[in-house]
Amino acid sequence: MSFDLVLFGGTGDLTWRKLMPALFQAFRHGSLPKDGRILGVGRDPLDNAQYRALIQSRFDKVELAKRPSTDEFERFAALLHYLPMDLSRPADYARLAETLNARQAKTVVMYLATAPALFTGICENMAAVGLNGPQTRVVLEKPLGHDLASNRAINEAVLRVLPENQIFRIDHYLGKPSVQNLFALRFGNSLFEPLWRRETIANIQITIAEELGVEKRGAFYDNTGALRDMVQNHALQLLCAIGMEPPINAHADAIRDEKLKVLRSLKTWTPETLKQHVVRGQYASGSINGEAVPGYLQESGVNPDSHTETFVALRTEIANWRWAGVPFYIRTGKRLADRDAHIEVNFRPTPHAIFKTPLGPGNRLVINLQPKDGLELHLLAQGQDNRLGARAASQTLAPVQLDLDFDKRFGAERVGAYERLLLDVIDGRLNLFVRSDEQEEAWRWVEPILDAWKNDSNGPRPYAAGTWGPSASSGMIARDNYCWSEEC
Ligand code: BG6
Repeated sequence: MSFDLVLFGGTGDLTWRKLMPALFQAFRHGSLPKDGRILGVGRDPLDNAQYRALIQSRFDKVELAKRPSTDEFERFAALLHYLPMDLSRPADYARLAETLNARQAKTVVMYLATAPALFTGICENMAAVGLNGPQTRVVLEKPLGHDLASNRAINEAVLRVLPENQIFRIDHYLGKPSVQNLFALRFGNSLFEPLWRRETIANIQITIAEELGVEKRGAFYDNTGALRDMVQNHALQLLCAIGMEPPINAHADAIRDEKLKVLRSLKTWTPETLKQHVVRGQYASGSINGEAVPGYLQESGVNPDSHTETFVALRTEIANWRWAGVPFYIRTGKRLADRDAHIEVNFRPTPHAIFKTPLGPGNRLVINLQPKDGLELHLLAQGQDNRLGARAASQTLAPVQLDLDFDKRFGAERVGAYERLLLDVIDGRLNLFVRSDEQEEAWRWVEPILDAWKNDSNGPRPYAAGTWGPSASSGMIARDNYCWSEEC
């Protein structure tokens, strides 16, 4: 199947950090459809050979296992082309149209790996030269807006030139194999479905913890913060995958309809819950893996008086028959004690206790997303010690666990998130992309938090880098008599 993949922002960070390595992996795995062309678009006046050399040099920064050999790069480079463009000049779009029309590829993907402020202009200019036909697909990277109004403005502008089923909004978490396994766990197995409800589940905890700080993105991040960067999209998508009803089939809209219902059912905020159920933090200096690291306010590009949060913990509920009353906790942050993303499903204790049980959580399903990828089922079991003195003690059950390691089972060389998503765009599969109404609903739900923070001069609570965030995060969950996994 012939395709043209146009990368707006063709020399930018996202292109060489994520997109080119992913495209190369797809090429190496033989899964990139034949007869493809990758057309980098950027301001720099490069020719094809210079562009190829630039991309090749950038591969030096990619992890070793994912770097091409010289021979492999040569073959991959045959797909790479470059077109210099000033994205604000309509005449340059006419040249792009000429380049694309000369080839008449079956599918034309426009990947907007640029600042979102340019999305609207690019789409309008594309349409003006007729580059919005049925063969065109446009890919939009996050952040799609800064709040509900700006998100809507982008969506409306793009929808004026292309229908929804030609728009691919990326949330790269949906492309992770571990997240796809979450859907498989719930909707490809019958085991957990009868248990997946308020009667059996006490609470659900979603953690996305990073060790990294803001790196070189200080200026961007300072204008964004953890709520917009991680909660509005990645964390809420995980919450949807955990909380949604089984879709009627595996088609994109069936899945997205169910996710939308979850977002619409999230409890609305009140002044009281905004105060009690949301904690924001900002990292101070500390140490990560034994190395001293600076605080957020000392990072380059960050305003030294910034109130931007690098950590959020919150409690919400899905107000429907399945979940009423079950707390869903989300926490995410930078410079935390570990790189660890997982979801913990904590089951209720037995209704009548005939054994002594150890302190701490009992039955628990842990869905490990990264760096581990797999499932842990935590149960309680009777130990073997029958010696006389030990008899009484043996009435106390001991924790045991079943461990499934998907990396071991399926091989660590599984298809990465961007590789999966790029192939899906070329294939026209929308399952793992976010629909405009989902995205707007997520913005609608986070906005009251943003407003409350704007009016709160106290700012975020500091936490030392290398810890699990401000102690108020533990206080929030302790009010329900629960604890985060590392505390129990
Ligand atoms: C991005 C955020 O969307 O996700 C980054 O902008 C964050 O701040 C990244 O570091 C985390 O992604 P991953 O795949 O490393 O967990």
